[in-house]
Amino acid sequence: MDDLHRTSAQALSALLAHGTVPPATFRAALLAIPPNDRDAWLDVVLGLGEVPDDGPHLPRGCVPYLPCPVDAILRAVDLASIGERDLFVDVGAGVGRAAALVGLLTGAASVGLEVQPALVREARSLGGRLPQLHFTPIEGDAERLSAPATSGTVFFLYCPFGGERLTALLAELERVARTRPIRVCCVDLPLPACPWLSLVIPATGDLAVYRSAPPPVPA
Ligand SMILES: C[S@@+](CC[C@H](N)C(=O)[O-])C[C@H]1O[C@@H](n2cnc3c(N)ncnc32)[C@H](O)[C@@H]1O
Repeated sequence: MDDLHRTSAQALSALLAHGTVPPATFRAALLAIPPNDRDAWLDVVLGLGEVPDDGPHLPRGCVPYLPCPVDAILRAVDLASIGERDLFVDVGAGVGRAAALVGLLTGAASVGLEVQPALVREARSLGGRLPQLHFTPIEGDAERLSAPATSGTVFFLYCPFGGERLTALLAELERVARTRPIRVCCVDLPLPACPWLSLVIPATGDLAVYRSAPPPVPA
């Protein structure tokens, strides 16, 4: 990243620490950065350092922390039409980077479910640095949705786990979808067949965005 873009990231970071940056302003600032520099730029804006090491609390078979590329998050925001009235739930939220980006781009409140306590601490610290965000990191295994995640309207899965855990989570999401429409955004995560979900548009490479079928009308 060149000096000009680093300076713009530092200036935005200072603004965010003390005030509010409207979503449209934040999006314009991000889109002004060349796509290849956006991840490094966002890390400066959010004050994030090196990717932290994974600890012993990561269950066997679950995926370690790796931040989702900005480009995939931007496409998910647009394809899922995420707006300020949504509650965005990042399943396997790491340090809260994706939840923070979605909050800054849309004004949506967010919940981050994360099993590794050290990452949850980082996520709380990130939320504390960005007063305009309504971001709630929650520690625990995301296989079971805890409140307030059950109130989510958009669920984001950057490949946190597969297998039986994913099956259990999808059963939880189906229960939520019986009460109201939800969207499910998957990055690098093929889902098993879910008749209650339909693709918003044919999946493009790494990203698939689904909408739930309307809840059945009571007889
Ligand atoms: C590929 S990273 C995604 C990070 C984040 N969503 C992002 O895009 O920046 C997967 C994350 O899921 C977390 N994770 C893995 N298994 C989990 C589980 N069973 N419950 C909650 N979090 C889990 C990992 O600790 C890791 O932070």
